[in-house]
Amino acid sequence: MTQVVTYRDEHFAGLDALWREAFPDDPPRNRAAVSVPAKLAEQPDLLFVAVDGDEVIGSIMADYGGHRGWLYSVAVSRARQGEGIGRALVEHAEAALKARGCLKVNLQVREGNPVTGFYAKLGYEMEPRTDMGKLI
Ligand SMILES: CC(C)(COP(=O)(O)OP(=O)(O)OC[C@H]1O[C@@H](n2cnc3c(N)ncnc32)[C@H](O)[C@@H]1OP(=O)(O)O)[C@@H](O)C(=O)NCCC(=O)NCCS
Repeated sequence: MTQVVTYRDEHFAGLDALWREAFPDDPPRNRAAVSVPAKLAEQPDLLFVAVDGDEVIGSIMADYGGHRGWLYSVAVSRARQGEGIGRALVEHAEAALKARGCLKVNLQVREGNPVTGFYAKLGYEMEPRTDMGKLI
């Protein structure tokens, strides 16, 4: 049975493998070995995985610092896409953010990634913003 649960240490290998498959071009700082411990140190209850038995088949990381909610690392293993798991992950994370008082959620999609249709199905809209970033 597929379910969305809060991340636990036993999920590490599966999550690492999922992110390597889903985000092959991500820089080393986004790998599970770096970002999972960092997330657990700050908001351990906002990292979620979709599991089927012992197998990790999806992930989502939510973030809320009191102003705006963010979603990161939304991924479903290639073999299990199209079953509604991505939707379940986003809805689970949205509920967790809402429970903390979060009123708005944002997310970033890399240029060229054809998943905007997925988020549109879940009610997300394009917003006229320019994304800026800096390594510190
Ligand atoms: C995006 C992703 C998480 C979607 O997961 P999924 O489990 O296949 O999605 P779901 O089955 O829950 O789909 C939910 C709805 O979105 C639609 N959908 C899914 N992917 C879509 C796409 N690429 N374009 C348009 N619609 C899409 C589905 O048809 C479904 O519509 P329905 O509710 O009318 O049936 C998955 O494709 C993925 O992991 N991609 C690679 C990693 C990635 O790029 N993540 C996003 C980073 S911003």
